[in-house]
Amino acid sequence: MGRLIFLIFFAVFSIGGELDRCDSCHLQKAPPFNVIYRKYLVIYSSKRRIEENMVNFLTDPSKQKGVFPKEAKKIFFPKEHPLYDRKEAKEAVRELIEREDLLKKVRVTKPRE
Ligand code: HEC
Repeated sequence: MGRLIFLIFFAVFSIGGELDRCDSCHLQKAPPFNVIYRKYLVIYSSKRRIEENMVNFLTDPSKQKGVFPKEAKKIFFPKEHPLYDRKEAKEAVRELIEREDLLKKVRVTKPRE
């Protein structure tokens, strides 16, 4: 039992990384990452381009670069997005993509024989 509790404890603390600090907003007032990820997926298609564009946004969140309409942002999120350096942004975005990867959420059932 003690070992189990230790394992759970360890697992909980080793999961989150860079993305933890994003969750303070993105689990509350900011758009959730699943919504953001879908939007990026529709626009950019490949994981490489999603990563590239999210990192660009986080390192220079000028209003022009985001995937949300500028006008909507002005009304709902008038504050500028927090700025991150490339290394932080890359790590967070990789975790984000890993977590939101849609293919992992699809359950593949074996065809009947
Ligand atoms: C202070 C709160 C806050 C924190 C911290 C924060 N975000 Fe955001 N984020 C927002 C809000 C509000 C929006 C929606 C408005 C916008 O796009 O600027 C947003 C939008 C985004 C978008 C979509 C941008 C677009 O329009 O294309 C991405 C991607 C994103 N955040 C990633 C992150 C990541 C990764 C982190 C952590 C490294 C993070 N955010 C930390 C508040 C936050």
